Amino acid sequence: MALLSQFGSLAKSVRIEKKYGKIKLISHDPMLQWIGTGRSAVAFRIGETDLAIKVFLPELDQTALEEAEIYRLLEGISYYPHLYESGANYLVMSYIDGMTLFDCLVNGVHISKAYLDEVDKALQQASDRGLTPSDIHLRNILMTNQGSVKLIDVARFRQVKEQDTQWEDLKRAYTIYEKRYFPKKISPFWLNQIAALYKRQLLPKFERKTS
Ligand SMILES: Nc1ncnc2c1ncn2[C@@H]1O[C@H](COP(=O)(O)OP(=O)(O)O)[C@@H](O)[C@H]1O
Ligand SMILES: [Mg+2]
Repeated sequence: MALLSQFGSLAKSVRIEKKYGKIKLISHDPMLQWIGTGRSAVAFRIGETDLAIKVFLPELDQTALEEAEIYRLLEGISYYPHLYESGANYLVMSYIDGMTLFDCLVNGVHISKAYLDEVDKALQQASDRGLTPSDIHLRNILMTNQGSVKLIDVARFRQVKEQDTQWEDLKRAYTIYEKRYFPKKISPFWLNQIAALYKRQLLPKFERKTS
């Protein structure tokens, strides 16, 4: 592919830093269209292609390496993006044209129970390959415009130290979401507040043991 040789320089064009615990994007090549920022990296769509590049914070080369290895182990499972290339601090993978479940809640896009079952299948298939899925939260699950489910951000799929109960807790939260009285559209402010309370184990019903 003609683009292959360009990936390294596209990744180099991305300047990011961590400020007050959050990633700040400083500059990037105009060919890159920002799609999302997480806690370890920033993701872009490359031009109008079907490719996405995830560029990690400079100090997280090890995480980039680990995530690339895990994508290779997941190769062929349709629920995960295909990994095209990886470098010291970046991954090039399929661009998923869709919305994270977080965006669905913010925009009032209904999440049907069938999507949850699909996520369960995706996790089962990863487990079948000897992995231990973790870090499964609303921003790492995408609903594509074709109506299928994709999981991203698999760097912690090999962490076995602690049991991560996020996905089981989210499924329990879904039983409340399904109730008629529960709002189907939630502002990002409140969603982030709920996530922060959850992380600090301040939501009595959804306590978890991890850090
Ligand atoms: N391949 C992709 N296709 C579409 N969107 C993506 C893709 N990879 C990442 N994103 C978006 O970028 C955000 C950050 O990427 P993510 O891999 O979760 O980074 P982090 O490891 O920092 O959490 C995601 O929440 C999602 O919105
Ligand atoms: Mg993420």
